[in-house]
Amino acid sequence: MYFPQLRLRRLRRNESIRRLVRETSLRVDDFIYPLFVCPGKGVKIPISSMAGQFQLSVDHILEEVEEAGGLGIPGVILFGIPERKDEMGLEAYSDNGIIQRAVRAIKEEFPDFLVITDVCLCEYTSHGHCGVVDGDQILNDPTLELLAKQALSHARAGADMVAPSDMMDGRVGVIRKGLDEKGYSEIPIMAYSAKFSSSYYGPFREAAESAPQFGDRKSYQMDFANAKEALREVRLDIHEGADIVMVKPALPYLDIIYRVKEEFDIPVAAYNVSGEYAMIKAAAQLGWIDGERAMMESLLSIKRAGADIIVTYFAKEAAKRI
Ligand code: PBG
Ligand code: ZN
Repeated sequence: MYFPQLRLRRLRRNESIRRLVRETSLRVDDFIYPLFVCPGKGVKIPISSMAGQFQLSVDHILEEVEEAGGLGIPGVILFGIPERKDEMGLEAYSDNGIIQRAVRAIKEEFPDFLVITDVCLCEYTSHGHCGVVDGDQILNDPTLELLAKQALSHARAGADMVAPSDMMDGRVGVIRKGLDEKGYSEIPIMAYSAKFSSSYYGPFREAAESAPQFGDRKSYQMDFANAKEALREVRLDIHEGADIVMVKPALPYLDIIYRVKEEFDIPVAAYNVSGEYAMIKAAAQLGWIDGERAMMESLLSIKRAGADIIVTYFAKEAAKRI
């Protein structure tokens, strides 16, 4: 049957019909909310390039967690701004580091709320790279041991899940082994598997004060021209023990999300990154776009592409609209 007997507009006539045939929907359960933890007490510093986001001391982090939990958001992912940075990123794997303290505080007050920690060195190193540096080289294998120590220290503090974002080869396997050997075999790994070298991380680097002090991240993060390589990265991470794989950023990489979901039977997360958030916020502030609608449309597109989980700074706002 074709037009004029067939008319697809019949199923778009009103909102009730549209609801009935809607193929994809967002759920509050899909969201993970990123938070930036900083030292001190009573500290709440706005991040200028990310309207509505802050660097928060642990006391304020607890308020955020309470609010997010109240909205039904299942969990947060934590990024740390340490007291001090050094060549080796010591505070990343210190049991008294900023993240470790935040995790303990959250788990003490909200034991059932999911706490995921970002595992990477760039927020803690003076040079801002995600691994150990020798001259202008970012060393792979010496970094692995530090990442495993960091993940273990997060688990000891009570983290429910660890999320390595460094893009060193072999890190998922080394972290898995490290956790298993110390009795944390039940802690899942959400691997940033296909993480592209992206200009969309700009605002995050302001927020986490983690911009590389020399060079760029192209020798470890992926070339954004490559899709097949993304599938290889995902396959390797699954082989090494990843429980959830992530594609990052999200919106310019919906094709990657789709392909990963088609190819593998594993939960897929997508990170709707800082630049994606900032663009919508900026255009909305200028009155050039309806920010709320653009937010919902963007998040839905990530879901439609195949993501099961969306890490997004919009989590609270979107939860309020669902
Ligand atoms: C650190 C890390 C980055 C993001 C998450 N973890 C930045 C980077 O690689 O420079 C980006 C998140 C965002 O932009 O929202 N490895
Ligand atoms: Zn990093």
